[in-house]
Amino acid sequence: MKIKKTGVSLPAIHEMGRKIQQLSIETGQEYLFLQRGINSVVNIDLSEVVQNIDFNSKEIQTYPPSQGRAELREAINNEYFGGKSDISCISICGGGMPGIDNAFQIVDVHKIYLPVYHWGNYHNVMKIRNIEYDEYDSFDNLNRILPELKDCAVLLGDPGNPFGNKYDDEEIFAMIKKLDDNGTAVFYDSPYRRVFYDKNDNFYIRLLDIDNLVILDSFSKSLGLSGQRLGFVHSKSNEFNHEMAVRLAFATNGTNAFAQILVENLLTTEIGKKAVNNFKTKTVTEITKNIKYLKESGFIANEFYHESEPTGIFAIVNISEDELLANRIGSVSLSKFTLSRKNESAKYSRVCVSIDHEKFVEFFKNIKTKR
Ligand SMILES: Cc1ncc(COP(=O)(O)O)c(C=O)c1O
Repeated sequence: MKIKKTGVSLPAIHEMGRKIQQLSIETGQEYLFLQRGINSVVNIDLSEVVQNIDFNSKEIQTYPPSQGRAELREAINNEYFGGKSDISCISICGGGMPGIDNAFQIVDVHKIYLPVYHWGNYHNVMKIRNIEYDEYDSFDNLNRILPELKDCAVLLGDPGNPFGNKYDDEEIFAMIKKLDDNGTAVFYDSPYRRVFYDKNDNFYIRLLDIDNLVILDSFSKSLGLSGQRLGFVHSKSNEFNHEMAVRLAFATNGTNAFAQILVENLLTTEIGKKAVNNFKTKTVTEITKNIKYLKESGFIANEFYHESEPTGIFAIVNISEDELLANRIGSVSLSKFTLSRKNESAKYSRVCVSIDHEKFVEFFKNIKTKR
């Protein structure tokens, strides 16, 4: 059998995961799995909310509509867009990743500009789909190259991966507006934002003014449901939404109905909202303490946080992947998040800071500070 090869490798975190699992079996010692992008302070407690769900219903046991259940899309419209968008602008996908993959294929641009340091999956999807890549290293840089960005797309994430950095909302809004006015499409991929915000956040409502924009979001981080594989894509373009519906119909035949009903319950029922609120409050409390600790201990790589603030769920530390591993901490070298700055970034690592604070300190306290 002949195979069409993509030349793309599996994500580096899988490699690190296998390595530390092996080491922990061999040594009998505990290792911290901070290489992953998973909120690990607490699980979201679903025990009450699942009691509301009728597993024997037709809604769960038959095909859902390919663009997603209308009830969930309406719940998203209310929760994220203050009811001011329309369900025809929202498509449900099997997580953030398929949303990104489809959106990148649908928008017709010369190339997509990614940040110099970016989540490797963006680039891998582009390679698999033969989409041309370019990069930018700051908003200043985007401003300088505006003319060449016409008919291209720019990806922005906030808080980002790998830095876990948050820009000022006014600054990022102004950047998106400027790109839109310039005829540049924007992919705004922010599955981490709603870990830190709730329904009172009006940023997505403000984004409804922007035309050349695709919002990509997921419930993997904000509801801790990476196992359910559920996310959504929002666009104001009817043509985009038609193409998304077609791709979802023929590539997936619809997205898991149970996951959709579960999230719908979490977003709309009092019991669900309570479970979400508990999950977020506990998660954000520990993230905040861990970032403060990294800053005070001199471990935060301040050089990457000039334009933005370390917020979570990741942070970049000035400790190499090997040194962290010697201290039984799994991480991913920053060099794995860049194509053009591999050498200079090898001494830094990305760690997930969404973990119990005491446990975090227990593992970091033996590392010599770099101050
Ligand atoms: C920046 C970013 N976007 C999107 C995703 C997609 O998340 P998922 O496919 O788990 O919903 C991730 C996952 O790690 C991510 O880091």
